[in-house]
Amino acid sequence: MEPIILLEDVSFSYEGASGRALDGVRLSITPGEFVGVIGPAGAGKTTLAHALSGVTPHVRRGDFYGAARVAGLDTVSSSVAELSKTVGCVFQDIESQFVTTMVEDEILFALENFSVPRDEIPSRVDRALNDLDIADLRLRSISTLSGGQKQKVALAAALALAPSVLVLDEATGELDPASSVQVFELLTQLQRERGATIIVIEQKIMLLCAYAERLLVMDQGRVVIDGSVRRALEQPDRLLALGVNCPRVTTLAARLREKGLYHGAPPVSLDEAEAMVREALA
Ligand SMILES: Nc1ncnc2c1ncn2[C@@H]1O[C@H](COP(=O)(O)OP(=O)(O)OP(=O)(O)O)[C@@H](O)[C@H]1O
Ligand SMILES: [Mg+2]
Repeated sequence: MEPIILLEDVSFSYEGASGRALDGVRLSITPGEFVGVIGPAGAGKTTLAHALSGVTPHVRRGDFYGAARVAGLDTVSSSVAELSKTVGCVFQDIESQFVTTMVEDEILFALENFSVPRDEIPSRVDRALNDLDIADLRLRSISTLSGGQKQKVALAAALALAPSVLVLDEATGELDPASSVQVFELLTQLQRERGATIIVIEQKIMLLCAYAERLLVMDQGRVVIDGSVRRALEQPDRLLALGVNCPRVTTLAARLREKGLYHGAPPVSLDEAEAMVREALA
């Protein structure tokens, strides 16, 4: 299948900065993949998210090398507005994301600007608000909301559009565990029902690994591990050395394997973790 995202040797350095925020990134993602991205602070995760949405190099300026194609568009020769018709994003710097001042308007704005049929708009707004459990915030001013509520509004606006590519950059950082799970369920629904491609940068690695099929680990502007979630989790020492806070259950799996007490793959769910512990105790 044709890749929906294709990065060929993409490097980027911010204006005035000496080092490269992205350094020779090669990446091919096929439609419908659910890809997790992890890595230590400053690894280039946000710059990668920006490169997919065109924010880099159009808004955050600097020297861009290589080629990036997303949904058939070259990110350097296409405008951010053009890209945003297919690439939905929730950015880490959420304050910079809002274009209106009221919750309902934020979701309406997205739908009205992306040629969603008029008669569909009211039901799409209702659904987005209900999906994120924020119907009660509908008429609130965004500036009065908590960090977590703001994240839900940005997620609702992004999900309402049902984009073919959705990029989330630490978009659940201020949500409680139940709401975070709910967001991942919504992402999976978008992936299954619409064949959307989902790219999620996330600190909650265990949660990410329960939903993502493929994991990219970034360090110093490079993608240093790219493979199935299980394969990435099979290298806990490498992840720890990179400064990625590895799930404890993954480290435990590696130790038990070393001692010959466990023979399976690193668990990616609570059930699998329980099965591992039972095997080790048996
Ligand atoms: N606007 C900017 N101007 C100059 N340098 C920047 C800018 N934004 C990021 N950088 C640098 O680019 C590199 C990659 O940063 P980036 O924000 O992409 O990392 P990250 O993996 O998202 O980090 P975090 O986990 O802290 O969000 C870092 O060295 C950072 O200091
Ligand atoms: Mg970041």
